[in-house]
Amino acid sequence: MPRILVIHGPNLNMLGRREPEVYGRTTLAEIDEGIRAKARELGVAVECVQSNHEGVILDRIAEAPGTYDGIVINPAAWTHTSVALRDAIKGCGLPAVEVHLSNIYAREPLRHTSLIAPVCIGQVSGFGPDSYLLALEGLCRYLSKRE
Ligand code: DQA
Repeated sequence: MPRILVIHGPNLNMLGRREPEVYGRTTLAEIDEGIRAKARELGVAVECVQSNHEGVILDRIAEAPGTYDGIVINPAAWTHTSVALRDAIKGCGLPAVEVHLSNIYAREPLRHTSLIAPVCIGQVSGFGPDSYLLALEGLCRYLSKRE
Protein backbone atom coordinates (compact mmCIF):
# COMPACT_ATOMS: atom_id res chain seq x y z
CA MET A 1 0.00 0.00 0.00
CA PRO A 2 1.50 3.38 -0.99
CA ARG A 3 2.24 5.70 1.92
CA ILE A 4 1.69 9.43 1.55
CA LEU A 5 2.85 12.23 3.86
CA VAL A 6 0.47 15.22 3.83
CA ILE A 7 2.08 18.45 5.06
CA HIS A 8 0.29 21.65 6.04
CA GLY A 9 2.48 24.74 6.41
CA PRO A 10 2.23 27.85 8.59
CA ASN A 11 -1.06 29.33 9.81
CA LEU A 12 -3.15 26.49 8.37
CA ASN A 13 -3.88 25.45 11.97
CA MET A 14 -6.11 28.56 12.03
CA LEU A 15 -8.33 27.41 9.14
CA GLY A 16 -12.00 27.90 9.92
CA ARG A 17 -11.44 31.27 11.58
CA ARG A 18 -8.61 32.64 9.41
CA GLU A 19 -9.86 34.93 6.59
CA PRO A 20 -12.97 32.80 5.97
CA GLU A 21 -13.83 34.90 2.89
CA VAL A 22 -10.63 33.52 1.30
CA TYR A 23 -10.19 30.09 2.90
CA GLY A 24 -13.74 29.16 3.91
CA ARG A 25 -15.01 27.83 7.23
CA THR A 26 -13.66 24.28 7.07
CA THR A 27 -11.21 23.54 9.88
CA LEU A 28 -7.90 21.72 9.45
CA ALA A 29 -9.27 18.77 11.44
CA GLU A 30 -12.16 18.52 8.98
CA ILE A 31 -9.78 18.73 6.01
CA ASP A 32 -7.66 15.94 7.51
CA GLU A 33 -10.79 13.82 8.01
CA GLY A 34 -11.65 14.30 4.30
CA ILE A 35 -8.09 13.35 3.32
CA ARG A 36 -8.25 10.16 5.43
CA ALA A 37 -11.61 9.21 3.87
CA LYS A 38 -10.20 9.76 0.36
CA ALA A 39 -7.10 7.73 1.26
CA ARG A 40 -9.28 4.78 2.35
CA GLU A 41 -11.16 5.01 -0.96
CA LEU A 42 -7.86 5.06 -2.91
CA GLY A 43 -6.27 2.30 -0.82
CA VAL A 44 -3.33 4.36 0.42
CA ALA A 45 -1.98 5.13 3.89
CA VAL A 46 -1.72 8.81 4.86
CA GLU A 47 -0.21 10.75 7.72
CA CYS A 48 -1.11 14.44 8.10
CA VAL A 49 1.19 16.94 9.83
CA GLN A 50 1.00 20.70 10.38
CA SER A 51 3.68 23.00 11.72
CA ASN A 52 4.34 26.71 11.97
CA HIS A 53 8.06 25.92 12.32
CA GLU A 54 9.93 25.48 9.08
CA GLY A 55 12.68 23.33 10.61
CA VAL A 56 10.12 20.79 11.84
CA ILE A 57 8.83 20.40 8.28
CA LEU A 58 12.34 20.29 6.77
CA ASP A 59 13.21 17.45 9.19
CA ARG A 60 10.01 15.54 8.31
CA ILE A 61 10.82 15.81 4.59
CA ALA A 62 14.43 14.72 5.10
CA GLU A 63 13.24 11.67 7.08
CA ALA A 64 10.45 10.77 4.63
CA PRO A 65 12.32 8.52 2.13
CA GLY A 66 11.99 4.89 3.20
CA THR A 67 8.81 5.60 5.17
CA TYR A 68 6.75 7.38 2.50
CA ASP A 69 6.33 7.05 -1.26
CA GLY A 70 5.20 10.61 -1.93
CA ILE A 71 4.27 13.97 -0.44
CA VAL A 72 1.23 16.25 -0.71
CA ILE A 73 2.14 19.69 0.61
CA ASN A 74 0.39 22.99 1.16
CA PRO A 75 3.48 25.11 1.83
CA ALA A 76 1.25 28.13 2.64
CA ALA A 77 3.37 31.33 2.89
CA TRP A 78 6.61 29.33 2.48
CA THR A 79 5.49 28.77 -1.13
CA HIS A 80 6.61 32.27 -1.93
CA THR A 81 9.70 32.55 0.26
CA SER A 82 11.47 29.31 1.06
CA VAL A 83 14.47 28.14 -0.91
CA ALA A 84 15.14 25.76 2.02
CA LEU A 85 11.79 24.02 1.54
CA ARG A 86 12.34 23.81 -2.21
CA ASP A 87 15.79 22.26 -1.65
CA ALA A 88 14.37 19.77 0.90
CA ILE A 89 11.68 18.56 -1.51
CA LYS A 90 14.10 18.32 -4.41
CA GLY A 91 16.75 16.66 -2.21
CA CYS A 92 14.49 13.98 -0.71
CA GLY A 93 13.76 12.62 -4.18
CA LEU A 94 10.11 11.76 -3.47
CA PRO A 95 7.36 12.88 -5.85
CA ALA A 96 5.47 15.82 -4.33
CA VAL A 97 2.28 17.67 -5.26
CA GLU A 98 1.79 21.31 -4.23
CA VAL A 99 -1.65 22.28 -2.92
CA HIS A 100 -3.41 25.59 -2.32
CA LEU A 101 -6.94 26.16 -1.09
CA SER A 102 -7.14 29.51 -2.88
CA ASN A 103 -6.17 30.23 -6.48
CA ILE A 104 -2.84 31.91 -5.76
CA TYR A 105 -2.70 33.32 -9.32
CA ALA A 106 -5.96 35.25 -8.81
CA ARG A 107 -4.66 36.95 -5.64
CA GLU A 108 -2.03 39.60 -4.81
CA PRO A 109 1.07 39.62 -7.03
CA LEU A 110 3.27 38.45 -4.11
CA ARG A 111 1.46 35.08 -4.29
CA HIS A 112 1.93 34.57 -8.03
CA THR A 113 5.39 33.07 -7.71
CA SER A 114 5.88 29.60 -6.26
CA LEU A 115 9.44 28.56 -5.42
CA ILE A 116 8.06 25.07 -4.77
CA ALA A 117 6.15 24.26 -7.98
CA PRO A 118 9.29 23.61 -10.11
CA VAL A 119 10.37 20.75 -7.81
CA CYS A 120 6.88 19.16 -7.71
CA ILE A 121 5.26 16.82 -10.21
CA GLY A 122 2.21 19.12 -10.24
CA GLN A 123 0.17 21.76 -8.46
CA VAL A 124 -3.53 22.04 -7.51
CA SER A 125 -4.70 25.55 -6.62
CA GLY A 126 -8.11 27.08 -6.06
CA PHE A 127 -10.52 24.25 -5.20
CA GLY A 128 -10.73 24.81 -1.45
CA PRO A 129 -10.42 21.60 0.61
CA ASP A 130 -10.98 19.58 -2.61
CA SER A 131 -7.50 20.73 -3.73
CA TYR A 132 -6.02 18.21 -1.26
CA LEU A 133 -8.22 15.38 -2.52
CA LEU A 134 -7.40 16.11 -6.17
CA ALA A 135 -3.70 16.26 -5.31
CA LEU A 136 -3.86 12.95 -3.42
CA GLU A 137 -5.63 11.27 -6.33
CA GLY A 138 -3.15 12.75 -8.84
CA LEU A 139 -0.20 11.54 -6.78
CA CYS A 140 -1.69 8.04 -6.44
CA ARG A 141 -2.26 7.82 -10.19
CA TYR A 142 1.33 8.94 -10.77
CA LEU A 143 2.66 6.32 -8.32
CA SER A 144 0.58 3.48 -9.81
CA LYS A 145 1.78 4.29 -13.34
CA ARG A 146 5.39 4.33 -12.14
CA GLU A 147 5.22 0.86 -10.52
C1 DQA B 1 -2.29 29.16 0.67
C2 DQA B 1 -1.94 30.37 -0.21
C3 DQA B 1 -0.72 31.08 0.34
O1 DQA B 1 -0.41 32.23 -0.49
C4 DQA B 1 -0.98 31.59 1.75
O2 DQA B 1 0.19 32.17 2.29
C5 DQA B 1 -1.50 30.52 2.65
C6 DQA B 1 -2.48 29.56 2.13
C7 DQA B 1 -3.60 28.46 0.21
O3 DQA B 1 -3.81 27.32 0.62
O4 DQA B 1 -4.41 29.07 -0.52
O5 DQA B 1 -1.21 30.49 3.85
O6 DQA B 1 -1.24 28.21 0.57
